[in-house]
Amino acid sequence: MKLIITFVFSLLSLTSFAQSNSLSNYREKLSLDKGWRFHLGDIPFPEVKGHLESYFNAKAGKAGGAAATDYDDTNWRILDLPHDWAIEGKIDSTANLAQGYRKRGIGWYRRTFKIDPKDRGKNLELQFDGISTHCTVWLNGNVVHRNWSGYTSFYIDMTDMAKYGDDLNVISIRVDAVDQEGWWYEGAGIYRHTWLVKRSPLHIITDGVFANPVKKSTSEWEIPVEVTLQNSEYLSKDGVISSTLVDSKGNEITAAEIAVKASPTDKTVANLSLKVSNPELWSVEHPILYKVKIVVKENGQITDTLTTTCGFRTIRFTADSGFYLNDKPLKLKGVCNHQDHAGVGVAVPNSLWDFRIKKLKAMGANAYRCAHNPPSKEFLDACDRLGILVMDENRNFNSSSEYMSQLTWMVRRDRNHPSIILWSVFNEEPMQGTEIGYKMVKRMSAEVKKLDTTRPVTAAANGGLFEPINVSQAVDVVGFNYQMDNYDRFHKEHPEMILTSSEDASAYMIRGNYTTDLTKHILDAYDTQRASWGATHRETWKTIAERPYLLGCFIWTGFDYHGEPSPFDWPTAGSNFGIMDLCGFPKTAFYIHQAQWIKDKPILQVVPHWNWEKAGTPVKVMAMSNAEKVKLILNGKVISEQKVDQYEMNSWEVPYEAGKLEAVGYSNGKKVSHFTIETTGKPAQIRLTPDRNKIKGDGWDAVPVTVEVLDSKGMAVQTADLPIEFEVQGSGEIIGLGNGDPNSHEMEKGNKRSLFNGLAQVILQSKEGGNGKLILKANSLGLKSAVLSLEVQAVADIPSVGVIKPYMVLDKWLLSPTSALKPDPNKEIAGNDMNSWQSVTAGQLRVFVDGNFAVYRNSFTPYQAQQDNGGKIVFKDLKGKAEIWLDRKLLAVKKDEAETDFIVQFAHGKGQRELSILIETTVGDNAGLGGFVTVE
Ligand code: GAL
Repeated sequence: MKLIITFVFSLLSLTSFAQSNSLSNYREKLSLDKGWRFHLGDIPFPEVKGHLESYFNAKAGKAGGAAATDYDDTNWRILDLPHDWAIEGKIDSTANLAQGYRKRGIGWYRRTFKIDPKDRGKNLELQFDGISTHCTVWLNGNVVHRNWSGYTSFYIDMTDMAKYGDDLNVISIRVDAVDQEGWWYEGAGIYRHTWLVKRSPLHIITDGVFANPVKKSTSEWEIPVEVTLQNSEYLSKDGVISSTLVDSKGNEITAAEIAVKASPTDKTVANLSLKVSNPELWSVEHPILYKVKIVVKENGQITDTLTTTCGFRTIRFTADSGFYLNDKPLKLKGVCNHQDHAGVGVAVPNSLWDFRIKKLKAMGANAYRCAHNPPSKEFLDACDRLGILVMDENRNFNSSSEYMSQLTWMVRRDRNHPSIILWSVFNEEPMQGTEIGYKMVKRMSAEVKKLDTTRPVTAAANGGLFEPINVSQAVDVVGFNYQMDNYDRFHKEHPEMILTSSEDASAYMIRGNYTTDLTKHILDAYDTQRASWGATHRETWKTIAERPYLLGCFIWTGFDYHGEPSPFDWPTAGSNFGIMDLCGFPKTAFYIHQAQWIKDKPILQVVPHWNWEKAGTPVKVMAMSNAEKVKLILNGKVISEQKVDQYEMNSWEVPYEAGKLEAVGYSNGKKVSHFTIETTGKPAQIRLTPDRNKIKGDGWDAVPVTVEVLDSKGMAVQTADLPIEFEVQGSGEIIGLGNGDPNSHEMEKGNKRSLFNGLAQVILQSKEGGNGKLILKANSLGLKSAVLSLEVQAVADIPSVGVIKPYMVLDKWLLSPTSALKPDPNKEIAGNDMNSWQSVTAGQLRVFVDGNFAVYRNSFTPYQAQQDNGGKIVFKDLKGKAEIWLDRKLLAVKKDEAETDFIVQFAHGKGQRELSILIETTVGDNAGLGGFVTVE
């Protein structure tokens, strides 16, 4: 690797930059999500036997079985990614409880596509953002990648192996979801996006720009911009890289430029510097983003461009007074989360990340721990945009090179996100209190620092921290999981160390349930239930809030997730830890945290519902409020006024009486908030409430819809558990359903779902090219139906790789030596003879130097439909006279020597067929398979 900086200057002519060609022409990032073929279950590779077969089996491009280019996948299911096959199945008592009792297993995916011949010479890369769990990838019959984490992306350079024009490219992926990396629901399949990226030979590599602003003095900032270029050609190239900072309004603020020499087929790292005065700061309240545009030129011509976002913010971690964002103290009000949602499993549409983060922000949370793995890129983009701080966490604790590359991939991909403030290298590792654990963390932390020195490294330990050698000595921030009783002791013994809770609470509740019956797997939502190692929500926050030296909390968890059904097992299939349920419907814990965390507006919420059966039954009423006092009133009669306990909240034992229960909040002697709940009548009608009224017609956008039933007066019946059936019309479909009941075994796909304690959720997704309306109808026997109409906004299609119907290309041939005498076209090739015949591809004519005759040979297995019904072999540009023999029978004769397309029909027949083409031409002429041969 060689970098020659010939000159650096920081002021470019910004106008000439702005006037340069449209920047998008130099790289194309095309979605590869559409039109995959999927087979559930494994497809064993056929046994390889015999010399010839073994010989060719070991050659490039010759992968067998479902990895072979000509494998018959015509009957496989066709689907679009992201896809999680585990969520499609039934809950099954024989499956692993940790994975939500979902069968996972093995699956195969295949995708066939064409690349335009005018893309020859470009650098071509396949990108897979996430496949659960382990996978092997073949491209055009070559194994090109094995991925050993369900949470890391991988990029495959396919430049050399690409086929162009009518020659097809085939990706085959065997996904092994028998393997597990977690003890929670991990889904199964290609559950994040996939891409084909086309770039010029001189281009910026994937994750190749690091641009993270650093504060230099009170008003001065610098963005040290690091750009990694790749020159994929065999000649060295002189390039110029320019970098421009663009503010949130689109103004170009400053620029810099550097010249580089890019060695052939090598990477080159260039460093530029952008200096800025008084930028607008990124914060959780005002997440202002800037853009850094990179342009690469060779001989004055643009070869690549890339734009990345960044934010100006400082982060400071102290051992005595916690965390500071932009030099202002900020207690971390964090939640841990896994990455699945009701109905969709781990195949979460991008827009659902916004939905979930907005819910957390509405609760007053300002931090998110990605438990226990790197999240999707789109999630982090949403955190940047919406303003939430992130602890980005590595999955596998292992300092060997294979696993270290998972860690360094995470840092390289994620280090521009202003939202990320901490890198976590592990969660609860048994070696945390040992020398080995210490050494592994030390090594992993050193690797992180090579890529990013601006954020501290942490590890979430649930013990071992008082051992003589332990991981706290190897991290910048010590993370405690469930160590409430140890915070003070550790702080006293190590006042110089920076401490945070990295995981806490593990309190249990089920939304809308107000009794606990462990035998029935029912938990109340009064914040009374917790794991033996955990604490209630209220205890947790009190402990954190009263310790200024702690950075903050990360509550287990913000949302429920599939799997880990603690404290139960079968038939409970989902977690009970969430502050919100699997759909994002708030449980009581949501309001507890709102009252504790939100200070700038009044919060007041009361539980339970007011639909009890018997008058006089004592009902526990709980009010969550940030006022100074709360008064409870039942049917106009004051029950009592209480001083609000900011940690514990307030509760009353109230003899039930149907009617109206009211709570009023007072601060500074004034009424600041009011909450009312009334006894409802019977369900009379359904109500559908979308999260948004508009949906983009791009086939990706998704909108969750809340389903409730109302009584005849229009009040929501919180106790209803009725079955509802849905129907969709227009430009979209239902991609999943849920109701937040951890004990429910209803299907999460389809068009039916019962309400659980008054609520259910339907997730709608648009169709590509959609416009007009997307209509959802909800019906339930005896109730007035509801109809929801979403406006589908016509938008540009997401640039995608075209979907084609696969066909078989016969591209691997054996060619006999030329001969002066007409040979037997069906002559056997000896099993140990690798050399008399040569391997050739179709599409290239041969010069017949010393004879008139030669034979092409190919064995192929027609697709099942062709085996059943027969088919045709299409020769493009066949030159010379020819006899076409199939299974030693003459099928057709081409009588003239001219180059033409030639089509031969063949009859049905089982299994493999042997095809021989005898070519006859004039000595000295060229002849043979001038174009593709396809079986159709
Ligand atoms: C922790 C663990 C989490 C989850 C939680 C449940 O020990 O880090 O992944 O299992 O317990 O309480």
